[in-house]
Amino acid sequence: MPVDANKLIDGKQIAADVRREIKSDVDAHVAAGNRAPFLAVVLVGDNPASASYVRGKHRAAAEVGIDSENLTLPDSTSEAEILDVIKRLNRDENVDGILVQLPLPPHVDDQKVINAIAPSKDVDCFHPENVGKLMLGLPGLKPATPAGIVELLRRSGVETSGKHAVIVGRSNIVGKPLANLLIQKGVDCTVTVCHSRTRNLSEITRQADILIAAIGRPEFITADMVKEGAVVIDVGINRVEDDTRDRGYRLVGDVAFEAVAEIASAITPVPGGVGPMTIALMLKNTLSASI
Ligand code: GUN
Repeated sequence: MPVDANKLIDGKQIAADVRREIKSDVDAHVAAGNRAPFLAVVLVGDNPASASYVRGKHRAAAEVGIDSENLTLPDSTSEAEILDVIKRLNRDENVDGILVQLPLPPHVDDQKVINAIAPSKDVDCFHPENVGKLMLGLPGLKPATPAGIVELLRRSGVETSGKHAVIVGRSNIVGKPLANLLIQKGVDCTVTVCHSRTRNLSEITRQADILIAAIGRPEFITADMVKEGAVVIDVGINRVEDDTRDRGYRLVGDVAFEAVAEIASAITPVPGGVGPMTIALMLKNTLSASI
């Protein structure tokens, strides 16, 4: 049975609105005599999913008038060579934003590379200084996926104040920073963070007014784990084999979409939910970093 369109939180549409606003700000910045914001993207290795995300980021940057360049380095690039590239980009005053696509190859320490990015150019908001500011509620760059989720809730008219948000997943990219954003003044959720060691997981997820799945396991959240009327946000993007598709796979989220949509009051699809918002908020950071 097709999913009730009224329940869909259309991230694609909402992200297009956000990009339109960014474009208008970029145009005004350039009309005032400034150069266009500039984003440098570092991609190491040939992970097809990462390459596809990076293409999407460049496409979206061009759409809003942000210039960007891609630095593709072979899988064999040493950590020291990657750090040298970052140092050069840090020094380059024509570069406003630096994004290193994760994951990096196993011989490279992701955190060491992140730590090398100048905090003022860290458009992912992964640097410890920016994570610290986020936690204290200080102004600064915002983590793209968590900020995208909060924006998605706000623009969809989902009430957050006093609501119980349950996050499944404790990653540095999503779970941890999202918990911080959701408890901030103005958002005002009560937050529970669950993870692989959580006991009685479904008992907790069933208490969620807002359930956020960010575990990276295809269709992990099933209908029995969701309370009637909950708002469900699916952060997962998983490739599962599918011989009926030309490309040999299809994308599914961390939520068993069709069954959960029957129970939820609102739900994000995959693709077309959180993903486009992540890109839009990263572009917003790039503009902020250029001003
Ligand atoms: N890999 C998966 N998600 C992200 C993201 O938001 N930023 C970067 N740089 N890498 C990622």
